[in-house]
Amino acid sequence: MIEIKNLSELHKPAYLMCLEEWSDEMKQAGDRKTIWYEKVKDKGLRVKVAIDEKENAVGMIQYIPIEQSFAQGENLYHILCIWVHGYNEGVGNFQKRGIGKLLLKAAEEDVKSLNFNGISAWGVSLPFWMKASWFKKQGYLKVDKHGMGVLLWKPFNPNAKPPKWIKLKKKPKKIPGKVTVTSFINGWCPAQNSIYERAKKAASEFGDKVIFKEIDTSNRQVFLEWGIGDALFIDDKSIRTGPPPTYEAIKKKIQKRVNKLK
Ligand SMILES: CC(C)(COP(=O)(O)OP(=O)(O)OC[C@H]1O[C@@H](n2cnc3c(N)ncnc32)[C@H](O)[C@@H]1OP(=O)(O)O)[C@@H](O)C(=O)NCCC(=O)NCCS
Repeated sequence: MIEIKNLSELHKPAYLMCLEEWSDEMKQAGDRKTIWYEKVKDKGLRVKVAIDEKENAVGMIQYIPIEQSFAQGENLYHILCIWVHGYNEGVGNFQKRGIGKLLLKAAEEDVKSLNFNGISAWGVSLPFWMKASWFKKQGYLKVDKHGMGVLLWKPFNPNAKPPKWIKLKKKPKKIPGKVTVTSFINGWCPAQNSIYERAKKAASEFGDKVIFKEIDTSNRQVFLEWGIGDALFIDDKSIRTGPPPTYEAIKKKIQKRVNKLK
């Protein structure tokens, strides 16, 4: 028996760790999600959790007014992520038992009851991580694409206007004689937060040859200035962050650039 409930204090620690309290990787992500949560909890963030008969949180969906997200639109909510616990560790694997569908339905009903015109979601066009095709199967329409990131939506009434991605406006510049590691970090996603922590640590290994810059995109103005939510750049090159690169992989990439310095 699974129940879908609003997030309560009881399940907040699990939610803040994306239901992976057992995971060392999650612990490495630091407390940025908590800081982000405190910032946005009164700005319309909604979280629903799937609870099993033992009172464990086994799934979650979080959605936010689109003005707080990485997309633009009018009177829409945007799903940041949906996650049904899929590992054997911790509470165990709960995927493919209909919980994802229940969570999505609960979020849609909630957004309708708040009188919003529709809901948008995002996924990737590759067969891992949050697949865009899963939302398509649930009746979402593809409206925009940015790299591998597909934006989809489900309008609830004929007045609804389709959302768009906010796209890259500028990127970090190369600084002569140095290697620059720039981490754009919003805080909402622990996977991204752990990349930030790894990049910061890796950059510090190279002394003054490498400059580490942190750009806090939870500040809306900062995000709009760049058009980048979460990303890692070495000099002016964007590093692929899905699936999250290991500390060693990031360090190796920095090392390659350092080797090219005169
Ligand atoms: C996508 C996800 C939310 C679906 O939840 P779920 O509880 O496993 O899915 P459900 O049992 O509700 O299945 C709903 C439908 O999706 C299909 N489905 C579920 N998982 C699927 C998968 N991995 N690939 C293809 N289809 C899948 C089911 O067959 C079902 O199809 P139907 O409507 O024809 O019956 C869940 O699998 C998940 O969390 N995946 C990882 C997503 C992720 O990376 N999120 C980002 C974390 S930050």
